[in-house]
Amino acid sequence: MRDKVTVIGAGNVGATTAHWLLTKNICDVVLVDVVDGVPQGKALDLYESSPVAGASVEITGSNDYAATKGSSVVVVTAGLPRKPGMSRDDLLKVNNDVVSQVVRKAHEQSPDAIFITVTNPVDVMTYVTWKATGLPPEKVFGMAGVLDSARFRAFLAMELGVSPRDVVAFVMGGHGDAMVPLTRYSSVGGIPVEKLVSRERLDAIVARTRTGGGEIVNLLKTGSAYFAPGASAAEMVEAVLGDQKRVLPVVAHLDGEYGQKDIYVGVPALLGKGGVEKIFEIDFTPEETAAFQHSVDGVREPLSVLGL
Ligand code: NAI
Ligand code: 2OP
Repeated sequence: MRDKVTVIGAGNVGATTAHWLLTKNICDVVLVDVVDGVPQGKALDLYESSPVAGASVEITGSNDYAATKGSSVVVVTAGLPRKPGMSRDDLLKVNNDVVSQVVRKAHEQSPDAIFITVTNPVDVMTYVTWKATGLPPEKVFGMAGVLDSARFRAFLAMELGVSPRDVVAFVMGGHGDAMVPLTRYSSVGGIPVEKLVSRERLDAIVARTRTGGGEIVNLLKTGSAYFAPGASAAEMVEAVLGDQKRVLPVVAHLDGEYGQKDIYVGVPALLGKGGVEKIFEIDFTPEETAAFQHSVDGVREPLSVLGL
């Protein structure tokens, strides 16, 4: 029997995640949204692409969580964008309510499911998902580092005129402008990037990575990125369903690792059927330690606004 994956929120990121999953042909997908007709319409549209795309899986849409029963993985993309007059803290509270409600409903239907949170601010919303479901921490994690690292890799590939596939690079910390792209651990076909790109250019690429989400918002003007975020969420789903033991940057729960406790933040981790099966602790320089701590502080602040 095929695994069932629920994607909550049939907006840009949710529908695109469903699209990437459909093309991978690895699971049935249920799209859920609060707006009547949207998950049904997008799911039907996606299913109608199957004969052309060569997909053989089911994809359905619903406003009712009963349809999600028995899911192996739940991807959470539901949330509201910031509206005029709304502060960051207002948005935080609204999305806290949305995420806690939807994950509770999904968890009731699929008590064994693994949850992957995408809704922003993602480090905080992953913590909210963990608290609201009461699941063990390894079964709840968030998507940010795969996206931020994909951007970092893409920018390095552009710089060097090489295939993005051959660039290995990763980003740690919170999903914000204080994230920590680690050039020291980045390579192209096994060659350290620091041997191929000047310090000045690397600094510019790091800065562009940190503001990569904002760069897309500024171009689109009416929303934020969704193709790369959807691809990143789908890659994490695939790692879990296929028990692939992928090593990816994951918004994971820290319980002493990197000297941090009771927080979700981006770190390299091993993803398999059990969720986050291992967290890798890498060596930092004093500068990297300070940058990671600064990024973690930026996640603790909104958690305290929510009283978490
Ligand atoms: P969107 O506005 O296109 O879609 C959000 C969807 O959530 C809408 O269809 C809306 O109807 C639905 N929704 C709202 N309340 C709901 C509820 N109570 N139950 C079910 N559905 C509900 O937004 P988009 O572009 O899809 O982004 C979704 C979220 O993902 C945002 O918070 C965004 O900031 C975040 N994001 C996070 C990334 C990451 O790296 N972690 C990357 C890209 C986006
Ligand atoms: C991004 O990085 C908005 O978090 C989203 O594109």
